[in-house]
Amino acid sequence: MDGEVERLRALFELFGTTQAAGRSPVYEALSAAILDDAELLGLMLGTPPVQRKPSLLFACVNALLAEHPDEPLAAYYPTHGGRRDVDGQLMPAFRALCRTYRDPLVTLLRTRSTQTNEPRRAIALHLAVSHLVRKWNSPVAVAEVGASAGLNLSFDRYTFGTELLDGDLEDLLSPTPQVTTRLGIDAHPVDLREPVHRAWLEAFVWPEQVDDLAMLRTATNVTLAGGIRVVAGDAARDVERLLSAVPGDEPLVVFTASLLSYLTPDDRSAFLAQLDVLARRRTVAWVFAEAPGLLARAGIEVPPELAGRNSSYLVGTQPDGELLALADPYVRRLAPRRTPDDDFAWVP
Ligand SMILES: C[S@@+](CC[C@H](N)C(=O)[O-])C[C@H]1O[C@@H](n2cnc3c(N)ncnc32)[C@H](O)[C@@H]1O
Repeated sequence: MDGEVERLRALFELFGTTQAAGRSPVYEALSAAILDDAELLGLMLGTPPVQRKPSLLFACVNALLAEHPDEPLAAYYPTHGGRRDVDGQLMPAFRALCRTYRDPLVTLLRTRSTQTNEPRRAIALHLAVSHLVRKWNSPVAVAEVGASAGLNLSFDRYTFGTELLDGDLEDLLSPTPQVTTRLGIDAHPVDLREPVHRAWLEAFVWPEQVDDLAMLRTATNVTLAGGIRVVAGDAARDVERLLSAVPGDEPLVVFTASLLSYLTPDDRSAFLAQLDVLARRRTVAWVFAEAPGLLARAGIEVPPELAGRNSSYLVGTQPDGELLALADPYVRRLAPRRTPDDDFAWVP
């Protein structure tokens, strides 16, 4: 058990010093304090090993806070209207909430899993679909595998994201694609019609990310209004069957963003093999926003200097082998390729 405590402490240390540092003063301070909190570490050790993740504890507490916004902890969470800077009362307030709602917290910790949907990635899909439409000059059907709630499938209906592109690159988003079908596939689909599903997506927004919360809510409303469906299915097994049912013979764009890391090497091959089968019947392109190293391991040619940069996402299309942009995983920055021989070496 001591080994498990140390492993958990190491996870919180890593979360605080790498992920939260510089991005979330609240999660950075809490991660450091939880290292020495035997009660909270013990609570987490009472859950199955796969559930013992700092991000999951923070999401569970955030979900409880959304239900109980009068709790003192809310004062530290701008997403819940708080304005108080991190101080010595933050950890006591966090601990108090965990004690007051111990039973529901344990239930959440035991039963929930990480579920995010980053609508900023929609701009990558938009860029790539516009690129393909310029080439095909045709309407397109669009599907996302690993779609979560399907927010990226409203890619052409958002006004946010375009600020990432220089003014003189606006033509990269034209023409506006004519989309005939939008379909999401996910192993664990998020149903935006269900308040509890929406609340769980929001629980992964960090305390200081007020703009991200607003963006998520906008994207949720747009996607709900568009009636976009995300059906249950596995990337390695169900894609060909589900996408064979997409009507029409216009080209089909299959998008993945941040999916490859969830798949085993065999499952990645199985996913791509299904696209090959679909391509015997209609034009199919895979649009990806994924880590270059994982793309290289899936057999995609990436510039050698990028293959080690898994902290960035490469945006591109297959089978034409076009690399269109390099972005950070949350697409807060996006650098479009400017010329065919651009190797992104200029991107800091
Ligand atoms: C990090 S999220 C990314 C969601 C969305 N693509 C985005 O960019 O915001 C990864 C998604 O992949 C889904 N997923 C993981 N393994 C999968 C599989 N084998 N088949 C289908 N979906 C899977 C997860 O349920 C989750 O919704």
